Amino acid sequence: MLKVTIDGQTIEVPEGTTILQAARMLGPEVAPPAMCYYSTLETSGGYCRTCIVKVTKGSEKDPRPMPKPVASCRTMVMDGMEVQNKTSPELLEARKGVVEFLLANHPLDCPVCDQAGECHLQDLSFEHGAESTRYEFERRTFEKIDIGPNVQLHMTRCILCYRCVKVADQLTPGRSHGVLNRGDASEISTYIEKSIDNEFSGNVIDVCPVGALTDKTFRFKNRVWFTKPMDAHRECDKCSGKVALWFKGADVLRVTGRKDAFGEVEEFICNTCRFEKKDAADWKIEGPRVIDHKSVISSNHYLANNQVPDFAFREVADYKAIEDKPVQPVPAQNQLNN
Ligand code: SF4
Ligand code: FES
Repeated sequence: MLKVTIDGQTIEVPEGTTILQAARMLGPEVAPPAMCYYSTLETSGGYCRTCIVKVTKGSEKDPRPMPKPVASCRTMVMDGMEVQNKTSPELLEARKGVVEFLLANHPLDCPVCDQAGECHLQDLSFEHGAESTRYEFERRTFEKIDIGPNVQLHMTRCILCYRCVKVADQLTPGRSHGVLNRGDASEISTYIEKSIDNEFSGNVIDVCPVGALTDKTFRFKNRVWFTKPMDAHRECDKCSGKVALWFKGADVLRVTGRKDAFGEVEEFICNTCRFEKKDAADWKIEGPRVIDHKSVISSNHYLANNQVPDFAFREVADYKAIEDKPVQPVPAQNQLNN
């Protein structure tokens, strides 16, 4: 086992663990943000640089600090390593620069973007971004592209994290899309359309950290913080059938995979569950979805008498314990009244 200290907290991890994985073991409060790394997608990470950390001590054997910030999702822990994330003002300043670059070509269309409220770039900008931009050039523009009947690509919002490329590569048979061109001219190739026939192609929506890939069955239907997420499952012969249903009143507005404390889907779901099962009767409802209490999505979970249900304030660390519980009927006060 290797010992690593991150922001003053020490943990022992197996050899081959990255700094980001070690930080996640310590908890979401310690973990650096990650816009491209996705634990269940092989070879993800290394593109966005939001996960940079400062290594103040390389290892017990070679205690020299690393000369510049390193991408924690791609840097392995060495025994005795010491790392700073939130405790280094310099590092936070460097991350602010990364956010500025990510926003250089990103439109300010949060008020009309379906990802608003659950957009990792929005959260990242709020926590690490600058108030204004120094970018004076014209932003890149693209036509919207329909990727099959259910998904729409807004290339203007894409930050080129490659997650959807990895999904199409690893969850659908045959490589049918990727990133075309390089640098400022890079774009998700339109032949992503070819992968849409596959039953798992809808997962590109869940892994996209921004609003570049949107669910056409949910587009402009509602703001996500006005909906009520409920855990539900059904018998499915293609996937686990474990999903989150997003209700408005008694209507299921959308179906997504269940995301963990780091915003990653726990189990990828099939297109049948995602796009074709929009009737609450198709599902066995387990109960309200636990959402990080800092999320704007939690802000709307008030009862009629203005009391806040306890699920809105549970800590994210409770995710697992809650999910392992046997299925309970939905308590009357949490039923779907808006
Ligand atoms: S479309 Fe979304 S998931 Fe795909 S590369 Fe762009 S930001 Fe990443
Ligand atoms: S999460 Fe590490 S480079 Fe993107």
